[in-house]
Amino acid sequence: MKNILITGATSGIGYAIMSLLSHNSDNDIFFTGRRKINRVNYYPCDLVDMFEIETLYNKACEYFNSPIDILINCAGQYMYKPIEKMSFDETSYLLDVNFKSAYILSSLVVSGMKKNNWGRIINIGSISGMVGEANATIYSATKSALSGLTKALALEVAQNNITVNQINPGWVETPLADDALSEDEKQEVIDVTPQKRFIKPIEVAKLCEYLISDDAKGLTGQNINLCAGLSIGC
Ligand SMILES: NC(=O)c1ccc[n+]([C@@H]2O[C@H](COP(=O)([O-])OP(=O)(O)OC[C@H]3O[C@@H](n4cnc5c(N)ncnc54)[C@H](OP(=O)(O)O)[C@@H]3O)[C@@H](O)[C@H]2O)c1
Repeated sequence: MKNILITGATSGIGYAIMSLLSHNSDNDIFFTGRRKINRVNYYPCDLVDMFEIETLYNKACEYFNSPIDILINCAGQYMYKPIEKMSFDETSYLLDVNFKSAYILSSLVVSGMKKNNWGRIINIGSISGMVGEANATIYSATKSALSGLTKALALEVAQNNITVNQINPGWVETPLADDALSEDEKQEVIDVTPQKRFIKPIEVAKLCEYLISDDAKGLTGQNINLCAGLSIGC
C-alpha cells in the first residue's frame, strides 16, 4: 500500500491525478483544496498559511497511521499582469501557494520517506517557469523556484531511494485556463502551440502514475515539459 498526499486535488489537474491514482487499490489517498468537502480523507486548507500546512500534514499522517510515501504538490495559482501592476501582497501570495507550500510539505514528508528508504515527490510546475511568460513574470519565477527545489532536493535524497521530479505543463484544459483565457485567447494558444491543442489533465495524471512507479526509479531531479511542443519554439 502506498500513502499518497495530493494538494490542489479538488479541481483540474490535481483532480485528474487523484481520480486516476485512486483506481489502483494499492494506493491510499489523502487530498486537499480550499473548498469544503466532507470526506474522511480530505482536509480543507489554505496553503498560504504555514500552520495550516502543518495541520494538513498531521491530519494526513493520522489518516494513514504511517508515513507518507508519495507527495504530489499540484496546488497553484496563476496571475497575468505586468510586473509593475503586481502588488507586494499578490507577489508573496503567489510565492506562498506555488513555491513555499511545496517546500514546507517536502520538508515534512522527507523524514518518513528516509526511514522507509523509499519515496516519491512530484511538483507540478509550468512551462512558464522553463521559458518565461511575459506578463506572468512572478508566476514564472515561482515555477522556476520550484524547479530549483526539485533539482536540489533530488540530489539531497538521491541515496535514500527517494525521487523528486517536476512536470511542467503547457496550457491544460482546466478551470484555471478557462478563467485566464477568453475564447479568442484560447484560439491564439492553439495557433502558437506546435501540436495545435491544449494538454488534457489525464495526460499529466498518466505521467504522475509512471513517475511514482518502480519503473521510474532512475528518473530524478528532472523537469519534464508536457507542453504539446510549446517549449521548443513555434
Ligand atoms: N491549467 C493550465 O493551463 C496549467 C498550465 C501549467 C501549469 N499549471 C499548474 O497546474 C497546477 C494545477 O492547476 P489547474 O489548472 O488544475 O488549476 P485549477 O483547476 O484552478 O485547480 C487549482 C487547485 O489548487 C487549489 N488551490 C488553489 N489555491 C490554493 C490555496 N491558496 N490553498 C490551497 N489550495 C489551493 C484549488 O483548490 P480549491 O479550488 O478547492 O480552492 C484547486 O484544487 C497549478 O500549480 C498550475 O500552476 C496549470
